[in-house]
Amino acid sequence: MRIPIMAGNWKMYKTIAEAMAFAEAVKEPLASVDGVEKVICASFVSLAPLAEAFRGTSLKLGSQNIYWEEQGAFTGEVSPLMLKDICDMVIIGHSERRQYFGETDETVNKKIKAALAHGLVSIVCVGESLEQNQAGETEQFVGKQVRAALDGITAEQMGSIVIAYEPIWAIGTGLAATADDANRIIGQVVRAAVKDLYGSDVAEQTRILYGGSVNTRNVEELMQQPDIDGGLVGGASLKPDDYIMLAKVAAGVKGAA
Ligand code: PGA
Repeated sequence: MRIPIMAGNWKMYKTIAEAMAFAEAVKEPLASVDGVEKVICASFVSLAPLAEAFRGTSLKLGSQNIYWEEQGAFTGEVSPLMLKDICDMVIIGHSERRQYFGETDETVNKKIKAALAHGLVSIVCVGESLEQNQAGETEQFVGKQVRAALDGITAEQMGSIVIAYEPIWAIGTGLAATADDANRIIGQVVRAAVKDLYGSDVAEQTRILYGGSVNTRNVEELMQQPDIDGGLVGGASLKPDDYIMLAKVAAGVKGAA
């Protein structure tokens, strides 16, 4: 059985004070929500205080980026050594980072390896643009991204890798992929690529999330899909009540399965 994940990607939102207020608001209500990994991926400046706030709770913490060197003259970057004691996970290769900050399949792969070397679970993002989608290139492009990200990663290491399929056209637009389409791409492209590379056992165990305009209205249908193991959620993860509901639905739907 794959334990579902509800990961909030806060992007460049929330000051430290706002992050702490969120932690305060969700701690109690989420304490009894089992059967789902609840992860908040906050900005670097909020990670240390959030780690304190989450201590002793079942909430996990993730960063939204990482650099692959341990230390050195890399102004503005944050290394795995700095993250490993406060974070459980790290988002790698989000489409916004690929689009605005020059991340490539190669840097994504380096970052995954750095995260692995320091015991951090990677949430690796893949997904096609609107143009690629309309041109019928989704399967080929997403498959290629998955393979490139996992280049040189062993079957044993796959236990520390989560993949998030996030079609770019669905991110922040309010226009999520249909549950059927998301399930199909995740099953027939992403999980299929993992199976091809590592065999059926690893493919069966790998958790693959859907991201892109997940909200309190569509989460249930998305979570009901057999190949969708949770969500990577931007906008709807910013409000405590919404995030609590998303986590509960993931736990309820997947727990009953
Ligand atoms: P969204 O963002 O839920 O606001 O569409 C998802 C993401 O970018 O991870």
